[in-house]
Amino acid sequence: MKVLLTGAAGQLGQALLVSKPPELELIATSRGVGPGLLALDLADAAACRAAVQQHRPDWVLNAGAYTAVDKAESEPELAKVVNAGAPGAFAEALDETGGRLLQVSTDFVFNGEQGRPYQPDQAPDPLGVYGATKAAGEAAALALYGARVLRTSWVYGPVGKNFCLTMLRLHRQRSEIGVVADQVGCPTSTHTLAAACWRAISADGPQILHWSDGGAASWYDFAVAIGELGVKLGLLQHVAAVRPLTTAEYPTPAQRPSYSLLECSSSRLALGLEPLHWRAALREVLDCISPSLS
Ligand SMILES: NC(=O)c1ccc[n+]([C@@H]2O[C@H](COP(=O)([O-])OP(=O)(O)OC[C@H]3O[C@@H](n4cnc5c(N)ncnc54)[C@H](OP(=O)(O)O)[C@@H]3O)[C@@H](O)[C@H]2O)c1
Repeated sequence: MKVLLTGAAGQLGQALLVSKPPELELIATSRGVGPGLLALDLADAAACRAAVQQHRPDWVLNAGAYTAVDKAESEPELAKVVNAGAPGAFAEALDETGGRLLQVSTDFVFNGEQGRPYQPDQAPDPLGVYGATKAAGEAAALALYGARVLRTSWVYGPVGKNFCLTMLRLHRQRSEIGVVADQVGCPTSTHTLAAACWRAISADGPQILHWSDGGAASWYDFAVAIGELGVKLGLLQHVAAVRPLTTAEYPTPAQRPSYSLLECSSSRLALGLEPLHWRAALREVLDCISPSLS
């Protein structure tokens, strides 16, 4: 089976590269060229179509995205082209070549107002530009027969730009950190997410899948756990005091859902994967970080 991967230099992309099942033939692409990576600009719909026509993959695993949630508010056109245009272009070309598409999406397609976990079949109702463009990307992908959408939440890993690495730095640099405590979701490690993505292109199951690690947390809970485990594992000498903030006390350009937990049980069953509690997944990620690099 041949898979064309986008966003291979991103945090999920890198986890997918290291966990690739050996029997798969992988064409890894990123915005720029790199060792083992082909250049593919997701903002260029013609290039996305041409990549499918040239390589004729069995699957496109679209892990690349415009992920800057706040910046998207001032760059809505670029966010839309990358997050909705690219999956649309892949879907169109795959329809001709007979391939399939796995579109990675987000809990931010929901408004967070219902106060209970979101089911895979619930209709998106995003709050901000990023969520709206990702919801449009889901719709564009699902126009292709055999396409799948895998929604996930609060992604972090040992490399890239993410909340966990930022908190490790802030614990080290500051005596106190203010972190939002009234937004609840679930952190998801790139390790478990990559496993779910690989399973999603091999297992049968529904068109829309939800994948996050087990449990629930606020950003505040996550920041506290990163400090505690960081000290325990020797990544930090000390923890900063973590002060809970309300969303109103930490204004951002993009509005975020206050409760965006994804109901994952049916997807876990379909994928044949057991959940790992987010704290255990965090420990696994921190175990991969060298004290000199964190
Ligand atoms: N991060 C989260 O918390 C989160 C939560 C839920 C869902 N997701 C979804 O999970 C997927 C993976 O996200 P991630 O956390 O791995 O994000 P990431 O680390 O920001 O990686 C995204 C990748 O997309 C690439 N990209 C952006 N614009 C591009 C373009 N025009 N052409 C080609 N590549 C482009 C980036 O390239 P550069 O390296 O050149 O910038 C980057 O490598 C995305 O679909 C995202 O929407 C993420």
